[in-house]
This record gives sequence, C-alpha cells and structure tokens, in this order.
Amino acid sequence: MDQNPNRYTITAALPYTNGPVHIGHLAGVYVPADIYARFQRLQNKDVAFICGSDEHGVPITIKAKKEGITPQQVVDKYHTIIKKSFADFGISFDNYSRTSAEIHHKTASEFFKKLYEEDKFIEEVTEQLYDEEANQFLADRFVVGTCPKCGFEESYGDQCENCGTSHNATDLINPKSAISGNKPILKETKHWFLPLNEYEDFLKQWILVDHKKDWKTNVYGQCKSWIDDGLRPRAVTRDLDWGIPVPVKGANGKVLYVWFDAPIGYISSTKEWAEREGKNWEDYWKDENTKLLHFIGKDNIVFHCIIFPAMLKAEGSYILPENVPANEFLNLEGNKISTSKNWAVWLHEYLEDFPNQQDVLRYTLTANAPETKDNDFTWADFQARNNNELVAIFGNFINRVMVLTDKYYDGIVPQPATFSEIDEQTLSELKAYPAVIASSLERYRFREAQGELMNVARLGNKYLADEEPWKTIKTDEERTKTVMYVALQIASALAVLSEPFLPFTSEKLKKMLNVRSSAVETSLKWNDVSSKSELLKSGHKVNKAELLFSKVEDEQIEEQLEKLQKTKMENTENKENSEETASAVAPQKETIQYDDFAKLDIRVGTIIEAEKMPKADKLLVLKIDTGIDVRTIVSGIAQSFEPEEIVGKKVTVLVNLAPRALRGVESQGMILMTENAEGKLVFVNPGEEGVENGATIN
Ligand code: 2FM
Ligand code: ZN
Repeated sequence: MDQNPNRYTITAALPYTNGPVHIGHLAGVYVPADIYARFQRLQNKDVAFICGSDEHGVPITIKAKKEGITPQQVVDKYHTIIKKSFADFGISFDNYSRTSAEIHHKTASEFFKKLYEEDKFIEEVTEQLYDEEANQFLADRFVVGTCPKCGFEESYGDQCENCGTSHNATDLINPKSAISGNKPILKETKHWFLPLNEYEDFLKQWILVDHKKDWKTNVYGQCKSWIDDGLRPRAVTRDLDWGIPVPVKGANGKVLYVWFDAPIGYISSTKEWAEREGKNWEDYWKDENTKLLHFIGKDNIVFHCIIFPAMLKAEGSYILPENVPANEFLNLEGNKISTSKNWAVWLHEYLEDFPNQQDVLRYTLTANAPETKDNDFTWADFQARNNNELVAIFGNFINRVMVLTDKYYDGIVPQPATFSEIDEQTLSELKAYPAVIASSLERYRFREAQGELMNVARLGNKYLADEEPWKTIKTDEERTKTVMYVALQIASALAVLSEPFLPFTSEKLKKMLNVRSSAVETSLKWNDVSSKSELLKSGHKVNKAELLFSKVEDEQIEEQLEKLQKTKMENTENKENSEETASAVAPQKETIQYDDFAKLDIRVGTIIEAEKMPKADKLLVLKIDTGIDVRTIVSGIAQSFEPEEIVGKKVTVLVNLAPRALRGVESQGMILMTENAEGKLVFVNPGEEGVENGATIN
C-alpha cells in the first residue's frame, strides 16, 4: 500500500433513487462536499470523491407499488435523472456508481460473509411485525406508528423523521402497516444482528474522547446521546424481496438491510473508479494516512458515526472516518422540504428554468448553508444574493477590470511602476486570503469561507474606487498601469479562489484572463495566490470580457413562487379530499366469522303505522309487518321523516335483536338505515318490488 498523508477519500451520502435530488440535498450534502473536494484538489491533494445511487430499501419498493412499476424501473429512472443533474450542476464526483451494480453486490456480500464467518453477528429468531393481509413482514418504512422517543405519530419503523431517532420497528407504539393500514401481528423470523453493545467502549473512546474537539457539535451531541442511551444489537437483515440476498444458507427471502449495504456502496464505488483509473482502491480505504470524510445530512448521523464504524471495526482492515461534517436541514419558503408533498426545488427543474446559472444556486445554498441550525431558502433571497452580491460585487469588479484593460491596453497586462503603500497593502491583503479561506474550509465552515471569497471581490472594488484609474488615465499613465496591474492580480486570484464555490464562473473567468484551467498541471493553484509574486505577468494578453452574472428578473422569481403556490393549492385540495373521504367512509370494523353473521335474522318488512313518540324529538313508534308478525319498533328517525310519509314503505328489519324498552315502549327489533351524501337518513332498500314481507336477507 502506498502511504500517502495527502490522500482524501471524500464520500457524499448515496441518494435514494425514489425521487430526484432537491435543494435540501444539495445544501446539506453535495454542495459542501463538492467545495471541499475541489478545494483539496487545488491543494494538490490526492482526492477520491465518491458517490452513487442508493437503490435498495423500502422507499424504492413503496414508490414502485405507487407507480405500478417494478423497483428496477424506479431505480433506473431516478438513477439516470440524478446522475445527469449532478453532472450538469458541476458536482465533481470522481465516481458515481449505483448499489445495483454487480461490483457492489459482490463487495457487500463479501463484507457480510466475512463478519458472518468470524462470528461477528448474533443469529436470532425474534418476533417481527407482520401484515397478514399482505402476507409480508413489515420492515422499516412498511410500518408507521408513534415514535417511542418523541411521540410523533407518523414515525417509520426504522427511523423517526421528527426527532431523528433510529429504532426497531417493534419499538413503535400503535404500529400500522403502510401497505394495508392494518394492525400488524407479531410473527417469528430469523435475522442477523450486529451487537452494537459490544462496540460501546470503542465508540466511546473514538468519538467521545478522540473526536470531542474536532467534530461538529451537532454531530458529537447526537452521538453522545446515542451512546449515553446504551447501544443495542441491530438487525442487519430483512424479510424483503428487494435488495442484496443474505449470502448464507437458510436465508431465503431475506436481504441485507439497506443501511448495511448502502455505506459499503462507498467502498464499491471506489473500487469501480480505481479499476477504471488503474489505482489501488485499498490505498483509499485501508491506509492509516488516508483521510476518510463522510458528507451527510443530520438524519444519517447515527448510521455513519455509530453503525458503519462498528461494521468497519468488526471487519478489521478498514480505516475509520476522520470526520463526519453533517449539516442540519434546509427549509423552503418557511416549510419543511417534502418529496411526497412536492414541496421542493428540484435540481433537474432548476437547471431547465435557469440555464447556465448553476453558480447562482450554489452560491445561495452556501450563503444559507444549514451548518449549525436548520435554515430557510427563499426565492427573494436567491434573487437578492444574485443581484446584490454576485452581479453587483463580483461581476462588477471583474467587468470593470476587463473593460478597462481592453480599452486602455488592448487587453495586454501593463507593466507596473513603483507600488504605492496602498498597492503593497492591497497585494499583501490579497496574499492572506488563501490561508483565511482554507482555514474556514478545513473547519467545514463553508458560509464563512464563501464570505471571505466575496471579501476578495470587495477588496478589488474598494481598490478601484479609491484609486480611480478612469480618472488617472487622463493625468498619470504610469499610475494607471500600476493600478490596473494590481487589479488584474486580484481578478486572477478570484479566478483561482472561486473555483471550489463557483466552478463555472471560475472557468469562465480563467478563459477571459487567458489562464489555464485547473485540470492542467501547470495551472494556477490555490497557494500560488499567496506564494507567487505575480499571478498575471506584464505583457500577458487577456481575452475579451464576457458577462459573468446576469440579473435575475422579478418575473423569474414570480414564476417560481407561482409554481410553489400551485403545489400548495394541490396539497390543500388533496388534504381536503382525503379528509372528506375519511369522514364519509368509516373504517372497517374488526373481522367476524360467518357464524357471527349467521346469527343475525334480517327480514323484509313493511311499515304499517307510524307516530311520534310523545316528548321525544328523535323517536318514531312504528308498527311493522315482518312477515312473521306485526310488531312495535321504536326508531330514531323522527328528524328525517314525517310519520305519514313513511307508512307503506318497505324496510329491512333486524328481527332477532333482544327487545328493549325505550321511553316505556318495548322495541322489538331494529330498522336498518344509512345516510345519504347530505347526511339525511334513508332506509336500506330491501330489494326489488315483489319481495314479500318476511323474506330473509343473507
Ligand atoms: O438518506 C438517504 O438518502 C440515504 N440513501 C443515504 C445513504 S448514505 C450511505 F450510507 F450510503
Ligand atoms: Zn421521534
């Protein structure tokens, strides 16, 4: 193995392929991970930036059921959309794989087998929730119920989306099948468990002691609370038909738990990449000098900080993550982003609505990154960030430098005269920025880092405003040359330092400045900004100015807000409809056997007399010819019928109901009634004309 202290394995959470990627995913995981990977590459580090589609798990099968297609069709569809949208958005993965790939099935199976053969699992028959109607065990999202920790009533079997707790499905209070809505029964089944409790001491030392200082407080806090609560064995297999088959005898119909196989997806994706690039994948996963980093959202913390490390520790030959810089969540216009409610800005739609404006979204998401708390994305802020910051600060500086260089010097970088104090000061301030930005990035403070990048543009704007080359050109040519030379150095520094944050802008700017792109070895690198005495030499010819950013117009924002408004209205309608349906149709009662039904003696009868019950608003006293006899029945229908209008009506009568006294009158049966759509009572029509009184209904 090649021992290299400059190697980074950077992973970004594998997205579930049950829907496209939205801005919440981008802000939480992919934009910061990409900034970090690009930054380390610019530092000449050996980077493997790894991701892929998470194609197993219950959400995929639920989506397939809903859409009436196979799980494979679901993952094929979304894998294609997601992979393309990441590429178009400039997320610079070295490899984007998928967990349905053969290499992944093999890697995950071998990982499981090794732990199995080394007796690292507990094999146990336990009772699991089972839906008798669907004939299926209810793993993970196939069951919902009340979270035992926070009381949220819609918690999933494996995780509560409200408080983030990860639990066993049997821990849920009042569990309900997500397939049929039925109350599940408990049924015995065999599974393999990873005894997390046996890794408690290791995790305590590794997280709570070794990483107390360098992990983010939100990550550390969640881990501590998990460990303090006491760790329990976790099942790593499931009774499902979608996933990687459990590779041991006697495990038919069982697959690996998606959270067992998905993180191994980082390893198999690295293998796929290494094979293609002629590298050794083990350098990236087994060399103690390699820094392994997992970029994730807060709902994934337990899996990456507790379960996956315990798996890696159990296997024994892997390194552990150096850091897991998890972010909180991003909301949209004040509401939680929701795939099922379509409350999201979808990446593939953004790319269509705002062509060639990837960097505006990257910039806004980083400026509002939910690093320490949940944050909000609003379209008004998106517009303001673009118009008031990217256009007015960054774009304005570059535009002035390019236009003036073209106008005064035909695009040739001028020879500076003697530097004034302000020039020296400005250049030395500029040289400090790479370290300042790097220090924020190394601490995963992406907002702060991007803020410092904008300060470089502000430095340029202030310098031009103070030195006014458009005035000195008339009085002092030498001074103007010096000022434009300094301004061009700032512009080149921006081209380099902006690359991690605004890669499309950086590329455009490099073209404009006629410097090489970062893909080339001899291109400008991060540290050149502080170490080189000049980034652009006198006599170098720059190209023509292009507009780096354009204004986002009010109409564009209104269009997006209208889209969201439409979603809101659709959601309200759906909710009302489902509430109406819910109130119109009462839930089915408990199942009875035929014998129970056979006990009911229901007959056709005719109302032959009807009168109001004195001093009772709701009751009518009826005489019914049941075919067996003529009997009295007291019925609560006085508010729906006048006595005279119902005489002669054919009705359905339960004749063997035990008699009971109502207001002193013995009622000897019950007339079957229902309600129409307006809530008015109507008789249950006993059938066609000609049906005789006394005919039985069965
Ligand atoms: O939360 C999610 O979207 C999961 N699919 C993340 C998986 S990360 C990893 F472990 F693969
Ligand atoms: Zn909860």
